[in-house]
Amino acid sequence: MQPRKQIGFIMPTIFWKIIIIHVITTIGFFWCVADSDATTEKNPDIPVIAKYFTTKGRYEEVNPYLIDDILAVNKSMLKPPSENCREIHLTAIIRHGTRYPTTKNVKKMQTLYKVVMNNASGEQSWLHEIKTNWTMWYYENMDGRLVQKGVQDHKHLSIRLSRLFPSLISEENLQSERIQFITSSKHRCVNSTLSFKAGLTEEWDIKDKEFDHAVNDALMRFFDKCTKFVEEVDNNPSALSEVEKFKKRPEMNRVQQKIADRLNVVYSLITDDMAEAAFYLCAYEFAIKTVNSPWCQLFDEEDARVMEYANDLKQFWKRGYGHDINSKSSCILFHDLFSRLDKAANESKSGQQVTEAVTVQIGHAETLLPLLTLLGFFKDNDTLTSTNYINQSERSFRTSLMLPYAANLVFVLYDCGGGDLRLQPLLNEKPVTFPGLTDEQASMPRYQDIRERYRVLLQGCDFETECQLFKPSADI
Ligand SMILES: *[C@@H]1O[C@H](CO)[C@@H](O)[C@H](O)[C@H]1NC(C)=O
Ligand SMILES: *[C@@H]1O[C@H](CO)[C@@H](O)[C@H](O)[C@H]1NC(C)=O
Ligand SMILES: *[C@@H]1O[C@H](CO)[C@@H](O)[C@H](O)[C@H]1NC(C)=O
Ligand SMILES: *[C@@H]1O[C@H](CO)[C@@H](O)[C@H](O)[C@H]1NC(C)=O
Ligand SMILES: *[C@@H]1O[C@H](CO)[C@@H](O)[C@H](O)[C@H]1NC(C)=O
Ligand SMILES: *[C@@H]1O[C@H](CO)[C@@H](O)[C@H](O)[C@H]1NC(C)=O
Ligand SMILES: *[C@@H]1O[C@H](CO)[C@@H](O)[C@H](O)[C@H]1NC(C)=O
Repeated sequence: MQPRKQIGFIMPTIFWKIIIIHVITTIGFFWCVADSDATTEKNPDIPVIAKYFTTKGRYEEVNPYLIDDILAVNKSMLKPPSENCREIHLTAIIRHGTRYPTTKNVKKMQTLYKVVMNNASGEQSWLHEIKTNWTMWYYENMDGRLVQKGVQDHKHLSIRLSRLFPSLISEENLQSERIQFITSSKHRCVNSTLSFKAGLTEEWDIKDKEFDHAVNDALMRFFDKCTKFVEEVDNNPSALSEVEKFKKRPEMNRVQQKIADRLNVVYSLITDDMAEAAFYLCAYEFAIKTVNSPWCQLFDEEDARVMEYANDLKQFWKRGYGHDINSKSSCILFHDLFSRLDKAANESKSGQQVTEAVTVQIGHAETLLPLLTLLGFFKDNDTLTSTNYINQSERSFRTSLMLPYAANLVFVLYDCGGGDLRLQPLLNEKPVTFPGLTDEQASMPRYQDIRERYRVLLQGCDFETECQLFKPSADI
């Protein structure tokens, strides 16, 4: 597995190391390798800990070249095997853009704010700034709504994708309704969908026409409809016992104590919830306003890696490899994807125009992670547990890299003539390789090899059956 060519974007050294490790794991992801030097050193608006914000991370941290040019695309990273290859279909599964905190997190942030205002003391300038020049502006009724930055996330993404795949995401295809939009019913997703469309209509100066979207929770919020998942994981605290155990571990306690020391308060005031609230405050201030807020001073990089692990652990057990039903709950989306690809493949092979050139599906981190897991991406040799934080320091399962706001998984089907179809997956606009293919197959793989790779899932993975609480079969 070779890393893709160097690109001259500036990234911090640690990022670079993580990337190299990614490339040499069996997962075989291609991350852009970059020079050392910290973006943050040049840009004081970016918190040093910004690359550890997991699912609260800014998209630009994953693709730092966008900081200088938000519409930059690199077409040369797409390498169809021959000049004859034509893009015939694209499905993009995209997370909503940057959003406000949910009610639950706002409550925690308000509690922390009171602790700092009432109980903290010290001469540090950041503490002074919190106390005199920062007001609590997060309210419960914000309820996870899309923010203005989130609108921009999707407008810019749609323009970049149209520049990357101009024959598919084209004005003609939009006008002739060969681009379909499907969204989760959540307001932040619907608004992201509107923003994605607005990016295109503004780019092409289309004023006289509206383009439909379909709301489909069966597809985009399958996790709510999967009884087995709801009962055995979502509503079952013991499913996340490793997360709870990690919160009692020395690594986590040390972070809480360091925060308490920085605030000069008794240790008992900084619970794991308060540490999380502080981390979120720094993350939200940055994601929403692009500011390096004084709250960020409550953490150093080591602390942030622990906080990152705590949330990765949660995602692992709640949406990832921790429980089989997590990924199986996405069977419905998996089959939906492959039936679109099959249809496009059949149409193209028989010389017809592909009916649906592009499908844009907008959902949640909770939509993407089970699907990524079902497909086998980011699978480490060892399970993430409460006790192996150190051993997992080089893990590939890093939601900071996988699932920032507006995270996107794109599949592009090519027809290279003579029945030779290829399928290129991209995660967050970078080519990735399907796990489990041989090196020879891996780069721009044949569609038939992909169907073979996922044969067992294609023949099974029935949503209704998998999601039944009690399987009628003998294999219970
Ligand atoms: C684009 O990607 C190619 C291949 O990955 C790389 O060689 C090239 O330097 C990149 N170009 C820019 C402008 O980053
Ligand atoms: C924190 O401040 C509040 C309000 O002044 C006070 O009631 C409480 O006792 C303080 N807690 C600690 C542990 O000092
Ligand atoms: C206080 O906040 C304002 C607006 O957020 C900012 O412009 C100013 O620099 C801050 N002052 C201090 C002392 O931090
Ligand atoms: C999102 O959509 C709703 C309903 O169309 C609207 O009321 C709201 O202002 C929109 N914008 C944001 C940022 O939530
Ligand atoms: C595509 O063609 C194959 C083989 O002819 C057929 O079995 C399959 O049902 C077709 N799929 C779709 C979605 O049209
Ligand atoms: C994971 O396990 C495989 C097979 O046992 C081994 O070849 C590989 O080196 C391991 N990878 C890591 C990162 O430990
Ligand atoms: C960490 O890895 C080492 C070496 O592979 C192993 O001996 C140890 O048991 C692992 N620790 C945990 C907690 O998994």
